[in-house]
Amino acid sequence: MAGHSNYVPKTGLARWLDQRLPVIRLMNDHFVTFPTPKNLNFWYTFGAILAVMLVVQVVTGIVLAMHYVPTADLAFGSVEQHIMREVNYGWLIRSLHASGASMLFLAVYIHMGRGLYYGSYKAPREILWILGVFIYLLLMATAFFGYTLQWGQMSYWAATVITSLFSAFDQIIPHFGTALSTWVRGDYAVGDATVNRFFALHYLLPFVIAGVVGLHIWALHVTGNGNPLGIEVKGPQDTIPFHPWYTVKDAFYLTLFLIVFLAIVFYAPNFFGNPDNYIPANPLVTPSEIRPEWYLLPFYAMLRAVPNTLLGVLVLFSALLTPLFIPWLDTSKVRSYRFRPVMKQLFWVFVATCILLGYVGAQTTDAAWHLGEVDIPLVWLARLATLYYFAFFWALMPWIGKKEVTRPVPESIAQSVLKKGAVLTKGGEQ
Ligand code: HEM
Repeated sequence: MAGHSNYVPKTGLARWLDQRLPVIRLMNDHFVTFPTPKNLNFWYTFGAILAVMLVVQVVTGIVLAMHYVPTADLAFGSVEQHIMREVNYGWLIRSLHASGASMLFLAVYIHMGRGLYYGSYKAPREILWILGVFIYLLLMATAFFGYTLQWGQMSYWAATVITSLFSAFDQIIPHFGTALSTWVRGDYAVGDATVNRFFALHYLLPFVIAGVVGLHIWALHVTGNGNPLGIEVKGPQDTIPFHPWYTVKDAFYLTLFLIVFLAIVFYAPNFFGNPDNYIPANPLVTPSEIRPEWYLLPFYAMLRAVPNTLLGVLVLFSALLTPLFIPWLDTSKVRSYRFRPVMKQLFWVFVATCILLGYVGAQTTDAAWHLGEVDIPLVWLARLATLYYFAFFWALMPWIGKKEVTRPVPESIAQSVLKKGAVLTKGGEQ
């Protein structure tokens, strides 16, 4: 999509480098002159925001690792006492990293929602989408390992709950599940060996993620960006160079995002945290409720909604892997839900369902809504919501795609942009 390179080295040194390792040409072709659709809106700035947040996490994480001690005895103290109170600006680095993880997930969910709504997963962007799903799964694993490292009560018990899920496989092959769970922990219970290996993995995975992000951007630049209309670029009249148009737009929204992020870091550093994690890990005292961070809650609610552990684990993994199949589940010829009146509504029901699952995941297992005389157990809501989650992708997406009467799609991006301009001029508002 970058097409023929129009980079002309201006100095002797640049010419010399260009003939040996054309990195400046590469940067120029991909981040300066890259032809980008004219009509990308606010929702398309989250890719750049994510890239910056990933760098924030890696940089702050490396500094934290210099002061962190991955042993069961010292981990909690190395964070709460040493990093938070003794290391210069340790409190800042730690808050940036902890709240940064939540902000990164917020951006990921917006980015994925955008991809879904504008049908960015459809051909020819299937690989781009699938790489995105891999990034998402890797991010979840990384966040889970990172959460364990604080070695507070919630860290410890979340690690215990998740690693003991493997023992559900005992129901298929006796003793295999328990052996697997012991192997993952490195011991019979979560302890020294576990925190040490989780630290190693938590350090490693972000670099794997960075590698997959590289492939993600490469795939993006082969097919070119999608856009809110879901139609392909027809010629140069539909595009503008990435710089300065989108560098400025991305920088503007990145600044707004960072303002919100820093407001949380400075004024509400515990906003995303769980108070139980201020209590050092204690294998002898189970907290009354064990729950993961907010971004994993919808899947946690699904796990708890199923009475059988093995089935619950299978539902959980199926829910996580389902997005990989979306490019082939959507049978519609029209990409963007803007022109798909039924799918648009179902999309918003899907978003509401995920929020409901997140809410239920944060409540106690026996919680209920009291409507007058009637009690609605939340676990039943979670069951309904789980059903909708799967029905949305596996039944509604293929079916509605074939049946839906779509709205007329504009001929080209340029035509649609100019039409909007014409309406504005007519109304004299330009
Ligand atoms: C750290 C994580 C990620 C980074 C840094 C990242 C980066 C980017 C960037 C820079 C873009 C181009 C700008 C934009 O469209 O926003 C993009 C596009 C895209 N991303 Fe990601 N991404 C990440 C995660 C994901 C995930 C989790 C998914 C989906 C599961 C995903 C799916 C897509 C798709 C489908 C596009 C193309 C959108 C279009 O052109 O219509 N990405 N990504």
